[in-house]
Amino acid sequence: MTLKPQLDAASIDRLLTIELARATERAAVAAARLRGRGDEMSADRAAVEAMYEELARLPVRGRIVIGEGDDAESSRLHVGAEIGAAAGPHVELAVAPLEGATLCAKDMSGSIAIAAAATSGSFLHAPDSYMDKIAIGPGYPKGLVDLDRDPADNVRALAEAKGVPAAEITVCVLDRPRHAQIISKCRKAGACVRLISDGDVAGIVFVTDPTETGVDMYLGRGGAPEGVLAAAVLRCAGGQMQGRLVLETPEQRASALRHGLDDPRKKYSVADMVTGDVVVCVTGVTDGPLVDGVVFDKGRIETETLVYRSATSTVRCIGARRRPRI
Ligand code: FBP
Repeated sequence: MTLKPQLDAASIDRLLTIELARATERAAVAAARLRGRGDEMSADRAAVEAMYEELARLPVRGRIVIGEGDDAESSRLHVGAEIGAAAGPHVELAVAPLEGATLCAKDMSGSIAIAAAATSGSFLHAPDSYMDKIAIGPGYPKGLVDLDRDPADNVRALAEAKGVPAAEITVCVLDRPRHAQIISKCRKAGACVRLISDGDVAGIVFVTDPTETGVDMYLGRGGAPEGVLAAAVLRCAGGQMQGRLVLETPEQRASALRHGLDDPRKKYSVADMVTGDVVVCVTGVTDGPLVDGVVFDKGRIETETLVYRSATSTVRCIGARRRPRI
């Protein structure tokens, strides 16, 4: 008797786990070959092509809902692209083949390849706009922090709930002039502010494991699609997040409206951004507090991938080693 796994909607996330890990591994390796070359466009293109080729082999009908912009001409992983088998269960994909392209181009810490899959209708179809974000890790009472609260009050509330002085709270923030107020208010409250130059998906995911990463809270404005990707990880690993779309142009407002996101004041929670069962894979391109980057050693290639699955709140760490072909 042969055991044949059933590719039905209920088990899709389980069966896709290793397939999705292959896609982020390949994207990470392709990008890592161009680490430190000062050419973010080429690194990004290489990651996109590599991830596309692997996703095209998926035994499902995938549709990109978070991807590389809306323009079909500029990327094979554009929003709306259909990918994978012509038949099979429908799956939504949210991808960033190279998140933190500048970090990769400068060989700086924290660039990753990330992909998430879930049944259709699971991801918030975020427009290509900014999003204001706040996130903390698991184990805290609901509503402990809030986007509309003063950053200093959020620091104090988190410190109290954690049972430490504010000086032992670390807040991760993208190093941008627009965040000057947030940074100074957190510092005035006594917190340590960890500035990152790019890559706020990883910045948010840091809060899921403060012991490992040293980050307790994420605050600030970054890409809305990146917010949904980070929410997918929090849905699996735990933690709270609020994201509010920043719709500045008529195109962004129209795109949001098309997907029924018509309330500009709405604060989206993790559950608003990602419903249903989701699997997320994150492979390191450069070294970071979350995952190690790709290692090239005399033809041998090593990757490290975190695989998150919401149905069981499992986080797996997959180390892969490819020996040189003789
Ligand atoms: P890319 O990898 O697409 O360059 O995005 C990097 C990033 O730092 C995101 O992580 C973040 O959400 C966004 O850019 C911030 O945008 P900006 O650079 O405009 O502040």
